[in-house]
Amino acid sequence: MRADDQEPGPCPERVAVYPGSFDPLTNGHVDIIERGARLFDRIIVAVLVNSDKRPLFSVDERVETAREVFRNRPKVEVDAFEGLLIDFARQRKASAIVRGLRAVSDFEFEFQMALMNRRLAPDIETVFMMPAEAYTYISSRLVREVYALGGAVQGLVPEAVEARLGRKFARG
Ligand code: PNS
Repeated sequence: MRADDQEPGPCPERVAVYPGSFDPLTNGHVDIIERGARLFDRIIVAVLVNSDKRPLFSVDERVETAREVFRNRPKVEVDAFEGLLIDFARQRKASAIVRGLRAVSDFEFEFQMALMNRRLAPDIETVFMMPAEAYTYISSRLVREVYALGGAVQGLVPEAVEARLGRKFARG
């Protein structure tokens, strides 16, 4: 049999990891995940364990909420991870790390992380994506603060997150 008669091998699945604290998940995160799901065969939302000593939501709550939000999206998986991100990415056979860039102010930290991750794992590429303009000012920190002080966060977070915020603060 000639080399060019050979059947091509199965195309490897393109997997990306989208890491973060997600305390809580915002519509900005959801926007990036949807964009990632269009570029990759599978996107794994990876919730960092122990990112903050006093989080609003436990890691289990964050994982559960994100699973609820993406329950009808088979390309989106949600998991928790501990330790180095690149170790988790390798374990899950991911070839890319997705991060969102909202503004120039995000850039410096993201650039440092991307280069450090590249040094640790040159085969894993960091891909930056911009959310829709409507979400560029949203952050988990501001959502927590506004909600805790009695403000409305409708439209800034998925309904499942709003419901959990309501239960956490005995509102709604
Ligand atoms: O949502 P965040 O808090 O901006 O996410 C930060 C995160 C989770 C991406 C970052 O802290 C991380 O990757 N932590 C895992 C530990 C690690 O690999 N550190 C070296 C990164 S250069």
